[in-house]
Amino acid sequence: MLKNISVFFVILYLSLNLNTIQAAIEPLDEYVTQNIRQYNAKLKQYEVEMANFKTTHAKQLSPINVQADQLELKIEEANSLLIPIELIDQWHRQCVLNYSSSIPAIATLRSSLSACASNTADSLMSSPKSTFNTLKSYYDKLPNSVANCEKTHSNSQTNYTTCVTKLITDANTYTVNNQKTFTSYMESSQCTADSRIVAAWQCSFNIVFNTASILSTALRKIEDCVDNRVWCGSLAACKSPNCNTVYFNNAVRQNETIRNPLYNPNSTVSCMEIHFLK
Ligand SMILES: *[C@@H]1O[C@H](CO)[C@@H](O)[C@H](O)[C@H]1NC(C)=O
Ligand SMILES: *[C@@H]1O[C@H](CO)[C@@H](O)[C@H](O)[C@H]1NC(C)=O
Ligand SMILES: *[C@@H]1O[C@H](CO)[C@@H](O)[C@H](O)[C@H]1NC(C)=O
Ligand SMILES: *[C@@H]1O[C@H](CO)[C@@H](O)[C@H](O)[C@H]1NC(C)=O
Repeated sequence: MLKNISVFFVILYLSLNLNTIQAAIEPLDEYVTQNIRQYNAKLKQYEVEMANFKTTHAKQLSPINVQADQLELKIEEANSLLIPIELIDQWHRQCVLNYSSSIPAIATLRSSLSACASNTADSLMSSPKSTFNTLKSYYDKLPNSVANCEKTHSNSQTNYTTCVTKLITDANTYTVNNQKTFTSYMESSQCTADSRIVAAWQCSFNIVFNTASILSTALRKIEDCVDNRVWCGSLAACKSPNCNTVYFNNAVRQNETIRNPLYNPNSTVSCMEIHFLK
């Protein structure tokens, strides 16, 4: 019991003593706080720059999504044109079947276009972000270091002041160098982002251009296919150059040689309809 009481007094004495010592030096709280405020502002500035980078990058890619929407509309338009044609009869259905398979599926187009527009902003920000983290953890250690100055130099205001100002001067130098590194990483990320945006645009242009050409070719082929049927086999629709009429009147019947009814110099003609008229 007596032992415990004496331990208690020793602790009491020590803590009283510590208080007296702390009162001897005047802490540079305001100076430190002011600098830490600036360090926080610096970190905030980094965060804003990185966020702006990501926003700008996403904005530059967003027209590719608009192109995907427009392409989807074009495909839907073509499909809504083809479905009723397909329903007319077997011939029409066969024409659509034979020539519409080249038209790409909307889901395929969308995934190719979004592959063009893959947003790599996060990966481009990895070096700036790690520079930010390094600086932040440096700053995070400062309050502890300041407290150490106070502990180590508790009996000399000059030595305490020197200790704290050295910490701040070092932190300022560290900040300047870190800012240089951060800026150079940001510049190099910007450079990479710019070339990736150009590549993304080329990629999406190629898809849009190819799809438009595939679509118009398919529609033209289907139209030609359907037209050939209309030209051959339907009297009302029979028109030049797919039509020829052979008269079998007396003059012709008694003639050993008649004009070749198959004669047609137009090489694009894919079928020929011959009408025998009296
Ligand atoms: C469709 O394609 C098949 C095979 O190539 C062909 O035999 C057929 O004539 C085509 N049909 C039409 C209507 O073009
Ligand atoms: C203050 O620092 C100087 C130089 O490091 C040292 O010589 C001196 O003893 C220190 N004073 C006190 C009171 O600790
Ligand atoms: C027989 O047909 C040819 C070609 O159509 C014509 O030039 C010729 O005059 C015809 N001959 C007779 C005897 O009608
Ligand atoms: C050949 O036929 C196509 C239609 O099948 C037509 O557009 C074209 O003008 C024709 N050419 C000639 C030289 O008659």
